[in-house]
Amino acid sequence: MAEPLPRLKILVLHGPNLNLLGRREPHIYGSMTLSEIDERIRDLATELDVEVATLQANHEGALLDRLHAGIDDVDGCILNPAALTQYGVGLHDCIKAVPFPVIEVHLSNIQAREPWRRQSIVGEAARGSVQGLGWRSYTAALRALVEILRQG
Ligand code: DQA
Repeated sequence: MAEPLPRLKILVLHGPNLNLLGRREPHIYGSMTLSEIDERIRDLATELDVEVATLQANHEGALLDRLHAGIDDVDGCILNPAALTQYGVGLHDCIKAVPFPVIEVHLSNIQAREPWRRQSIVGEAARGSVQGLGWRSYTAALRALVEILRQG
């Protein structure tokens, strides 16, 4: 009998200020806390039979360190760069350096907000972007990422 395939390892990274979700501008970002969002992500991961590891950091370097640490064993990443979206050159370069696909997510639709918020230097390096769906941006991105990794 064939060996079962190893479970895909997915990294979920949340950038600056996302630890304040739930109380931070709920009319824009919704009322769900970050741990509630992580719970939805973990529920879906169980349904899809993949492993997820999540991290929130307010510092770009911590996000880079986690991406570097996963270079040999992470299969794909979902990243909400938050306030690093426009100027995160380190994140942009890192996404290009790692061998696995990274999908950018935003809770809000950044294209429909202030003009300065619309340009994403991180998105330019990412495999794709999901935005404007609230917490469902994460689950939509996770479904797509797993499908891409399994089917190419
Ligand atoms: C955000 C949008 C960013 O412009 C903002 O800086 C954030 C959150 C979102 O998820 O909608 O912190 O990434």
